[in-house]
Amino acid sequence: MVQQNGTGEQSTEPDYFQTNPKPPNLDRQITLARSFIEQHASQNRRVALVTSGGTTVPLENQTVRFIDNFSAGTRGATSAEYFLEAGYAVIFLHRQFSLLPYSRHYSHSTNCFLDFMTHNDAGAVVVESEYQQQMAQVLSRYRKAKQENTLLLLPFTTVNEYLWLLRGLAMQMQPLGANGLFYLAAAVSDFFVPAERMVEHKIQSSEDFQEDLTNGSGARAPAAHMDGKRLVIDLDPVPKFLKMLVDGWAPRSMIVSFKLETDPSLLAKKARYALEKYSHHLVIGNLLNTRKWEVLFVSSDGGERWIRVPAGRRSQSITTWIHDGAQLGEPAIEIESWIVPEVAKEHTKMIEKTVSKQASY
Ligand code: PMT
Repeated sequence: MVQQNGTGEQSTEPDYFQTNPKPPNLDRQITLARSFIEQHASQNRRVALVTSGGTTVPLENQTVRFIDNFSAGTRGATSAEYFLEAGYAVIFLHRQFSLLPYSRHYSHSTNCFLDFMTHNDAGAVVVESEYQQQMAQVLSRYRKAKQENTLLLLPFTTVNEYLWLLRGLAMQMQPLGANGLFYLAAAVSDFFVPAERMVEHKIQSSEDFQEDLTNGSGARAPAAHMDGKRLVIDLDPVPKFLKMLVDGWAPRSMIVSFKLETDPSLLAKKARYALEKYSHHLVIGNLLNTRKWEVLFVSSDGGERWIRVPAGRRSQSITTWIHDGAQLGEPAIEIESWIVPEVAKEHTKMIEKTVSKQASY
């Protein structure tokens, strides 16, 4: 079924969730989120849903092969830490095994985590002295988040899991009203294999083992199948969930999306286009090659500005600074430490507007 929404655009939401299966652990994840949100709602704390990492598109039900979307999870994991520092509770909806807040400083780096360790004179394992100071800071922030239960980690792998979770979490966040924030840094697949066109077993490359795809029934062939020696992949578009989020799932929350481009001449245009099309609050544009040093804020009030880290203070991460710090002379800046306070400021303005609107009724 295709529905028309307020803007005349077609929405296929009912179809999507009726025809693509609910992930087996969805209810458990939503239950965890519900009690997390209730706790913070009762403390009148803001809650940010930070999405992070790339979604996959499996080609087979018993998945051997899949298509992946680019993202290490750096933007999301780093931003989550700064949201926690700004007093938010954070639901971190992330690609399983991508970077996580706090542990990101020691995982996925060129170092093995054992390189941060050494033996002391008594033979006990301790942190190398050069890492002590930084690790102590990370550890105390991590412990605080744990003690106050302000960080909830929820993993996804496929785009289907992501969409079901996003919808479920958005519904749970509705009681937060304007205190809810969506910060959509995940790289979400634009095309997918719908359940009805997914093969069960591993696609056979050898012609000797290939099956008749339609059994002469005239049905559409599976989305991924062999045609002789060639693998043919014919994907359906993923419905534009941002529209559903803004119009239906989270109409009172602040919604921030990211726009990733590789062509600099397109970035501002595409960010503006997204904002006009989905009517949310803020698009943060970034280019693949410069995303760690500069981002473009395009907001619904018509404002447009770049945030840029000065050349001398660019670094991959704080951990890199430990190694490069002596040469640079001052600590590297993570651009998320500037992005997140700006987003929080915009969020404050939106909350104040909501409060004054309510007061005038
Ligand atoms: O993790 P890192 O390695 O640090 O990389 C971070 C990042 C570059 C992935 C991140 O900063 C970023 O840009 N994330 C968004 C990437 C992306 O999905 O861009 P897009 O142009 O495909 O989508 C733009 C927006 O449309 C997204 O905010 C998404 O919410 C929305 N969308 C996408 C697909 C879809 N079916 N429906 C949507 O509404």
